[in-house]
Amino acid sequence: MSDTTVRSAYSAIHELYIDLFGSPTDIDPEDTAFVLRHLTEGPVLDLGCGPGHFTQVLHAAGLAATGIDLVPEFVAHARSRYPDIPFRVDSLRTLDAPSETIGGLLAWFSLIHFTPAELPEILSEFHRVLAPGGRLVLGFFDSDEQVEVFPHKVTDAYRWPVEALSELLGAAGFTELERSRRPRVGDARTYAVLAVERGRE
Ligand SMILES: C[S@@+](CC[C@H](N)C(=O)[O-])C[C@H]1O[C@@H](n2cnc3c(N)ncnc32)[C@H](O)[C@@H]1O
Repeated sequence: MSDTTVRSAYSAIHELYIDLFGSPTDIDPEDTAFVLRHLTEGPVLDLGCGPGHFTQVLHAAGLAATGIDLVPEFVAHARSRYPDIPFRVDSLRTLDAPSETIGGLLAWFSLIHFTPAELPEILSEFHRVLAPGGRLVLGFFDSDEQVEVFPHKVTDAYRWPVEALSELLGAAGFTELERSRRPRVGDARTYAVLAVERGRE
C-alpha cells in the first residue's frame, strides 16, 4: 500500500488513535519486557512510532531512541509530549542512516499495511542499517494458516502466520531469537511478537 494512502488514513483518525493507544501505560507490560529484552544497544529506531509512546519506553530504558513516522500529526504530538526525544517525519522504506550503524529497530505494528510483495525490500533496508548483532523486534497481527488481508479500522492490513514471517526474515538475512503469540483478549485480534538478529558475519 502506498505511503500516501497510509498517511491520509492515519492523519484522518490521529486524535482518536492518540486517545486510545498513545500512552506508555497502554502497552502490555509483557510486550514492554519482550522488546526491552532484545533491544539493549543503541541507537534504536522506532519505525512507524505513531504517537511515540514506545519510543518513550525505549528512551526511559536508557537507549538512544529516535521515532520515525509518516504522519505529521503523530510526530508533532510525540515531539510535544516527549521533548527530549528526537522524532522525524519520514518513511521507513528508506532509512536515513549509514550501513551497519544501528543497534536496534522496533517495528511495532508498522509493517501491517505493506503487501507481502513489498516486505522483502523493506527488510533488506532494515538489514542494511543494523550493525552486526543488531536486533529487530516486530509486533504484528498473526494468523494460523496463510497471509490474509483484512479490513483494519484505519486501512487494509495483513495478518501473517508467525512461521511465514520468520521465513521471510530468514531470507533477508536475519536469525530468529524469540517468538511469542498473544492470546485473544476480549474483542482484540490475536497478535504475535518476533525478535530477530542480524548475523555477525
Ligand atoms: C498501527 S500503527 C502503530 C503505531 C505505533 N507503533 C503503535 O504501536 O501505536 C502503524 C504506524 O505505522 C506508520 N507507518 C506505516 N507505514 C509507514 C511508512 N512507510 N513509514 C513510516 N511510518 C509508517 C503509520 O503512520 C502508523 O503510525
